Amino acid sequence: MRSPADLITTDVDRALERLRDGGLVAIPTETVYGLAADAEDPAAVARIFEIKGRPTHHPLIVHVADLDHLDGWVDSLTDDAATLAGACWPGPLTMLLPRGRRVADAITGGRPTVGVRVPSHPLTLDLLRRFGGGVAAPSANRFGKVSPTRAEHVFADIGTLLDPTRDVILDGGSCPVGVESTIVDLTVAPPQMLRSGAITADEISRILDSPVHGASGPSRTSGMLVSHYAPECQVVLFDNAFDANHEASLRGDHGQHVHVLDRTDDLVTAARELYNDLRAADRAALDALIVVMPPASGIGHALRDRLMKAATRS
Ligand code: TXA
Ligand code: MG
Repeated sequence: MRSPADLITTDVDRALERLRDGGLVAIPTETVYGLAADAEDPAAVARIFEIKGRPTHHPLIVHVADLDHLDGWVDSLTDDAATLAGACWPGPLTMLLPRGRRVADAITGGRPTVGVRVPSHPLTLDLLRRFGGGVAAPSANRFGKVSPTRAEHVFADIGTLLDPTRDVILDGGSCPVGVESTIVDLTVAPPQMLRSGAITADEISRILDSPVHGASGPSRTSGMLVSHYAPECQVVLFDNAFDANHEASLRGDHGQHVHVLDRTDDLVTAARELYNDLRAADRAALDALIVVMPPASGIGHALRDRLMKAATRS
């Protein structure tokens, strides 16, 4: 039986060594944990897809230490991209830009664009600075499932699939933002939101002083699939606490084991705890998690998006 101690460490030196040797490193970021590999190592990148059970045409985000390390990863840095990077990096924003010469087809699923971001977690920034190159990292969960926001979540999801002699989980505590980065496509005019996150479309529009299109139309990112971020238990959404509690008591009367999740009073905490709450529902073997929907403001947009996908059965 593999124990967490075989894989989980706080030692950045060990993580760096594994990354350089072509192993996988689960990295803490401010959003969620990522499953990282040297983006220029095809065998390591292939293992990411294998371990996640992710279709190979779903592109990966390339993470770098700072703006100066983007050289070769993007073809050109537009004015908008430089402005957004200056305002939001390190931080929970991924920008889609024309891909550079260092980007392999395996990273982008053959697309002409690449997603890039500078995450703000201190351990991972230290790792990225010392590594120097680009690190490809999707969220460190099995494809379509709930993202991990703690090292233990990563271990629970993929611990048995990682190789303790090659891979490591870098423990940086619980992720302070809790939902994945905002993704904005800067290869189209006006820029288009592909995934909502802690940085909202309104903020981006304000920073760029120009309009930004909301996330609509045909899906271009896997996070836009209708069902995603889904726990095993049923997730049922209500607009207000009264209706949620009423549903909970009806289900209770029918012998169902349910909980009501209402974090509408504090959306920052709601986001930070969202994936842990969904995981806790499964650990408690609930029949259903009955959720009071947060309002559509600020990070509430991202919460509503993730909850709607969690509530959709594939
Ligand atoms: O917060 C985050 O972004 C986390 C942390 C680890 O950085 N990463 C993350 O990666 O959420 P992932 O792979 O779980 O989600 C990235 C999304 C996917 O839906 C992928 O399809 C989309 O970004 N994506 C990446 N590159 C793309 C590209 N060139 N064109 C379109 N979509 C892209
Ligand atoms: Mg993901």
